[in-house]
Formats: sequence, structure tokens, C-alpha cells
Amino acid sequence: MTVLRCARWTIAAVLVVSALAVSTAQAASPDRRAAALVAAMTLDEKIQLVHGITVCPYPVGDYPGSERSRNGAGFIPGIPRLGISDINYTDAGSGVTNCGARPNGQSTMLPAPLARASSWNPALAYDAGALIGKEARVQGFTGLLGGVSELIREPRWGRSFETLGEDPVLNGTLVANELRGVQDQKVVATIKHYAANNQETGRQEHSVEIDERTLRELHLLPYEIAIPASKVGSVMCSYNKVNGTYACENDYLINQVLKGEWGFKGQVQSDWGATHSTVPAALAGLDEEEFASEFFAEALKAAVEAGQVPPARLDDMVRRKLRTLIAVGVLDDPPGAAGSIDVSYGAAVTERIARQSMVLLKNERRMLPLSRRVDSIAVIGAHADVGVLSGGGSSQVTPPGGPAVPPTCETEGPGGSRCPVWAKSSPLEAIRAQAPRAEVRYADGTNAAAAAALARASDVAVVFGHEWRGEFEDRPDLRLPVLQPPDWPGTIDQEALIAAVADANRRTVVVLENGGPLVTPWAGDVPAILEAWYPGSRGGQAIADTLFGDVNPSGKLTVTFPRGEADGPTGAGPPTTALSIPYSERLLVGYRWFDAKGIRPQWEFGHGLSYTDYRYSRLRARAGRHGLRVSFEVANSGGRSGTEIAQVYAGLPRAAGEPPKRLVGWARVALRPHERRRVSVEVDPQRLAVWDADGDEWDLVPGEYRVSVGASSRDLRLREEVRLSRRTSPR
Ligand code: BGC
Repeated sequence: MTVLRCARWTIAAVLVVSALAVSTAQAASPDRRAAALVAAMTLDEKIQLVHGITVCPYPVGDYPGSERSRNGAGFIPGIPRLGISDINYTDAGSGVTNCGARPNGQSTMLPAPLARASSWNPALAYDAGALIGKEARVQGFTGLLGGVSELIREPRWGRSFETLGEDPVLNGTLVANELRGVQDQKVVATIKHYAANNQETGRQEHSVEIDERTLRELHLLPYEIAIPASKVGSVMCSYNKVNGTYACENDYLINQVLKGEWGFKGQVQSDWGATHSTVPAALAGLDEEEFASEFFAEALKAAVEAGQVPPARLDDMVRRKLRTLIAVGVLDDPPGAAGSIDVSYGAAVTERIARQSMVLLKNERRMLPLSRRVDSIAVIGAHADVGVLSGGGSSQVTPPGGPAVPPTCETEGPGGSRCPVWAKSSPLEAIRAQAPRAEVRYADGTNAAAAAALARASDVAVVFGHEWRGEFEDRPDLRLPVLQPPDWPGTIDQEALIAAVADANRRTVVVLENGGPLVTPWAGDVPAILEAWYPGSRGGQAIADTLFGDVNPSGKLTVTFPRGEADGPTGAGPPTTALSIPYSERLLVGYRWFDAKGIRPQWEFGHGLSYTDYRYSRLRARAGRHGLRVSFEVANSGGRSGTEIAQVYAGLPRAAGEPPKRLVGWARVALRPHERRRVSVEVDPQRLAVWDADGDEWDLVPGEYRVSVGASSRDLRLREEVRLSRRTSPR
């Protein structure tokens, strides 16, 4: 047992002070240059820079310069006389979208952010951001409207594939690296959607009713982590209201917390159509309105002239934008004429990322990896003959070579696609390449009896299940959907199809392509399940490489898969249409809920199997001057090389009033067969703190902290208690 002696202190203040000391020196020049530019601008020029005028190829109003737009998600004309280049935005998290039917607008489709998060790999998050940034810049964009760091609170959320999971520390850490990757390519990144934007149903109208402690400890924490760590240039405020006030005119969220407490120096831009006023929004801290409202155009000019918005506030809006463009390198080196991406480079990056994004959910009797010596394989369902699925909405990417299946809707334009888009990456062909001597046949599954007959006649069956999600609409439930025209050639009940195939061949593997948690009442019928998510434009190859063991799966879930529809904090679906949504689960989002209520999930947060086995031993948890140092050993006791994601959780003293445990750190440990390694994880004090709403500060509660280490949130192998106290400052 160890004693950490520490006084009650304001962790946030300590962090902000040290961050400011560093950034003042580095940022002096962008700030000074931005101020000089603002001083040289007319009122009209300032107004021009804070009002988005086109989306895709469509202008709003009669503004000169809109013809120069690069047909992305947004455009603001620059001011050539001052050397300020045009501002062109594009979405987002899975790659660069093609909003305006741009002839060269095909981009690498990465595995969806939720898939990438399964790697728990900050370096991989950086690489994904860097690729998206590079492809955005080469296509002429100055701003990338990603990534999303919101928590998955409602498991049916249509956009859950765009975010990183249900844990604030994991979300914040990964998104920070992604944003850094983007900005290192001289493209301004945006973190979104600030704040508590957790479902599509009613997103433009509803108000999230949330207590301060829940807001700070869960929903704002990813931002608090990622914004200083990435120096992201832009924060996008969300459509919804928070405690009765629209997020884009919410003084508490923008002025007080983001700009005040956290010292954010960049700009706040509204989501598209999320500005609702001129004076309240300007005074609450909104710096840029986006399509298609007119609150920050003539109306803002009039408000400034009438003294309702101080001229200094308008200057501040413009200065924030310019200092960011300078700091990120856009102003001095704007992108050139729109070009095309390097398709083969992107393919190599996305394939590498997809290989780390797969999660092996189940593998009884060591069903996987498949042997290349089988004579016959049945591949069934989910267009697995031609491609892999992606998520829809504004983040929809048009993959290289175009869609694998003719889409049933317009997929490029404002808002992106509202129907499934399949990328040309055929799992069937990749499986054939892995098992060249086997007879590999395909059935689309529309006729379940024919699919079962094919499975019966084959050594192994691989049945694909898919679930399409998109922006604008939540899922009504968590089951694998019944497919029907126009998006499928006939009507098929995918769960019945899996049952029929499993009944015909006990050597059946299910591969899932989905965008969020599912309930899987059929899971007991099959020996193996591979979660491939939306795996991107080389997803078919990554799936086959994993099925045959070229890849030893290492991904772990960042979101709980419940057993029953009603098991989670938001109950049974569909998501509420109420105009006021009380976040009455408070701190019990995701695994925190399942832990506190003693509900066994189907697959817990942090779960993911491997083709090898890992042993844990020799935990040491010690309080240090700056938090906790946790070290332990992980050994690969099996016969294959692999990477284990070892997770560290902390249970706070009872007096803290917290859920049973929270994730406080993790390590990716690559091990050869029979190799053993000592791993050390440093836990920052804030990871152990609670938000004291009375004192407006992070507070470390003295007492016994239960440190546990293991392979998932429910597969904890090692435990130790550490006593922390407030008696002496850690500094
Ligand atoms: C989405 C944003 C997106 C914007 C521009 C909105 O519908 O919520 O995430 O960046 O459109 O396409």
C-alpha cells in the first residue's frame, strides 16, 4: 500500500497555467500577425470572414466570390488584398467527402472512426488524421470538419460510427492524435459537436438537461483532453440545446468553459444551420456561422453598428480565425489548385489501419484462424462478393473506383448519402486469394434456403451480417436489420439467415459490418464472430487476412454490446423524441452503467480476443508526485505473435460517489510467442479526480483507490489498492 500526500488543488488550473506558459511563447507571432491583419480590415471584410456562403456547389444569398468555392462542405472567400486566401471546408472522419460532385473527388475511405478506435492506438489515430489531412489539402481544402469526440450514450445513435466510443479518456486521447495528424498537413481541423450531441432524433430542437458534474466528467472531458493536446484550430458547436440554450449561443459552454477556463485560442464555428441568433450567439462566443443562415451577415454588421455587439467582439472572431490559419500554416502556404489523391498510398495506409481495427468477439474451439487447406468455403450475404459497407450522412466518402453497388440515392451533395454505399473491396476475392486451392462460392442470402444448402455443401461457411447507420436518423433498435428493396434485391431477415446457415454447417463464422453496438441473440449458434465495422476501402482484404491468421486480431471494443435491447442506460428503443432529454443516468454512461447495475453485457467494453493467449502478473501501483504509476507484466503464452491492449481501471473511494470503475490508462503490448514484458502506465491525477461543482474545480478525493489491470473491463486479472490523500501538494 502506498500513500500519495497531496493537498486539495485545482488540477485544471495547473494544467491551464503550464499550457499557457508554453503556448504564449510559441503563438506570439500568429497572434501579433492576426491582430495586425484585423487592424487593416474594413467592417465588411470582417463580416465576410465570419459567414459561410456556400455548401457543395450551392451558394446562399448573393455573395461575390462563391464561384471560387472548391465544392466542399463550406466556403468563405478570402481577402486577396491582405493575402488572406479562400477558406474551403470539407468533411470528415472516414476520409475526404465529395460534397459537390467534384470530378477528382474520390478519396481513400478509411475504416470508420469507431473501427479505428478499436485499436486503442494513438499513433494509428495520428496516421489516419495525417492521411485525411493530406488528401484534403491536395484537393484544395484549408479546413477539415473532423473529428467527432462525442460519447456513445444512446447505442442506437445514427452517427455512432463517426465517433470513438463510450469512454471520455479514450475518446479524448485518440481524437487529439487524429487532430494533430490533420493539422500537421497544414489543414485546420475541427473537433465536434460541442456538446452533448448524442442522438440524431430531434437533434435540431431538443435540449439536453444535464448536471454540471456529469457534463464535466463525461461529456466535456474529451474536449478538455484533446483541445490543448492537439492545439486544434476549430471547435464546432452542435445543433442541440444544453440546459435550455442552443449550444451555439451557450455562454457557459463557449465563453466560460472553452475560451475562459481552457484558454482555447481558436475559433468556434456552428454546425451547418446551428446558428439561431445574431446578438446572443455573438456575445456567447460563436465566431463563425455556417450554412445556411444569415445571422452573421448583414444582421451582424447592423448589430455592430448599433452597438449591440462590441466591435472588439467582431475583431476577436476574426483574430481567432486568422491566428489559427497562421499557426497551422495555411495562410503562408495555402493549398494549390485542386489535384487528385495518391490512390495506392492511401490504400496501403487504410489497409494497415483496417488490420488493427478488427475485433474478434468470439472464437470457440479455435474455429479461427481458418485453414488454407479446406476444400470449400461458402461466402454468404452483405454484398461480400463485391464490397464492404460504409456509414452515411455528411461523412460519406466516395471511395476510389466509385461505389461497388449502384446506390439507391444521390450520395454526393449537401448532407452526403442517405442510403448505403459499398466500397469496392471484395471479401470474396480476398478469401479466394487466401485459399487458392479451395472452391469458394457465394450466395447473396436473399434465398436463405439456398444459402443454407451452399453452407451444408461446404467445409466452412462465412456469413456476413450488416447494419447501415447514417447521420439524420437513429436506428429503431439494435438488431441486425431485416433487409428489403430498394437497398437489397429482396427481403431477408439476416438473423434468420445466420440461424439457417449455422444450422446447416456448425463451422460457421459470422463477420459483422456495422456502425455501433448490436444485440446478437444468435451469438450462441455460431462458434466465431469477427467484428469488422465499416472497414474502409481495403476492408475486404483486412477481413480475409484476419480470418486466415495473417493478421492476429488485436482490437478491443470501445463500446458495450448489450444482451437485451433494454439493458443500457437509455432503455429500449427507439430513441426518445422528447424535446427535453434528462441525462438521468448521470455518470452511468456505457460500461459504467452495466458495472453499477450489475448487468452482464453480451460483450463488454474492452473485450476482444486474439489467436494467442496473454498472462498478466506482478502488478505494482504506486502513488507518485504527479499521479499514479502502474506497472505489471504481460506474457504471450501462446504460439503466435500478437498485440495485447492491457487496460488499467481505477475504482475511487466510496466517498467520491462514482461508478464502480473508470478507465485510467492502457498500453498496447506487442509480444512474440513466449515473450514477456514489463509495462508501465502513468496515470495523470485528473484521470482520478472528480468534478466539484460547488468549487468549480477538479478534486482528488482522499482514500483507497482500487487499481485493476486486465484484458477487458470484465476480465480483470490483477488488483491492488493505493491510498491517496490530500495532505501534501504533489508539486
Ligand atoms: C453535420 C456536420 C458536418 C456539416 C457539414 C452537418 O450536418 O452535423 O458534422 O460537418 O453538416 O457537412
